[in-house]
Amino acid sequence: MVGLKSTLKALFCGALALAAVSAAPVAEVPNVAVTAEFPNAIAGLTPDLISGESNKLKVTFRNSGKTDLKVNLIVGTVAESYDFENVIRNLTAYRYGTTLKADATLILPYTIKMEHASREVGLTLLADVVDSSKNHFSVVVFNSTVNFTEPAQSWIDLQLIFLYVLIAGIFVGVGLFIKDLMAPEVKTVKKAPSMTPEEREAALEKMKVLDEDWIPEHHKKSPRVVKRR
Ligand SMILES: *[C@@H]1O[C@H](CO)[C@@H](O)[C@H](O)[C@H]1NC(C)=O
Ligand SMILES: *[C@@H]1O[C@H](CO)[C@@H](O)[C@H](O)[C@H]1NC(C)=O
Ligand SMILES: *[C@@H]1O[C@H](CO)[C@@H](O)[C@H](O)[C@H]1NC(C)=O
Repeated sequence: MVGLKSTLKALFCGALALAAVSAAPVAEVPNVAVTAEFPNAIAGLTPDLISGESNKLKVTFRNSGKTDLKVNLIVGTVAESYDFENVIRNLTAYRYGTTLKADATLILPYTIKMEHASREVGLTLLADVVDSSKNHFSVVVFNSTVNFTEPAQSWIDLQLIFLYVLIAGIFVGVGLFIKDLMAPEVKTVKKAPSMTPEEREAALEKMKVLDEDWIPEHHKKSPRVVKRR
């Protein structure tokens, strides 16, 4: 197996050579166009890379040629924005080995995840494209300045506050429920004073019709008698 490191080295040297000498290529350069977009971006804007989080990219390959190609790898570097050759970090190389058919489009995902201070850097992503004769070509996927930013702390704080309020609400709810379970009598007793003096009078009037003697004492003042009216 050919080492990834040497492949990457060859790829970057290849990219430089490609930029320097475009004349007299050994093999015909594949007719492939590549675009990279951040799915979460506002149209037409390159969003900031969020330090420590997974920044997803959608890479679209368009093969306008007559032969099938293969997308082998996508590699990347984060460099100083004033000098793209002053590499700060080599990004994770993604190996695909996916066929890019003639006159077809292929979409591949790429994720950038690294910790970096909030400032401008130069981001370069290169794809290693292989033709049917096993010639490797380095195709620029992305090459521009981007800003690193910290994750939105205030938003996380807001979410935490919301969580605390929610938990507090649950505790209050559970507390009320337990209180209800433990004191059901209190609730029924509380209903009794809702009887107005008029109602009480009417209830007593009705009771007079009956032979009061056989009614148990504690039932005489029951509000249920009122409801039977
Ligand atoms: C990135 O990779 C290249 C090629 O393998 C290597 O020469 C260079 O030292 C690496 N840079 C960093 C910052 O790791
Ligand atoms: C990327 O852009 C920088 C700055 O514009 C330039 O110096 C460099 O040659 C470009 N790299 C590639 C591979 O196109
Ligand atoms: C990066 O941020 C600086 C300062 O906020 C801004 O001037 C610059 O345009 C940004 N660069 C990019 C590529 O968004």
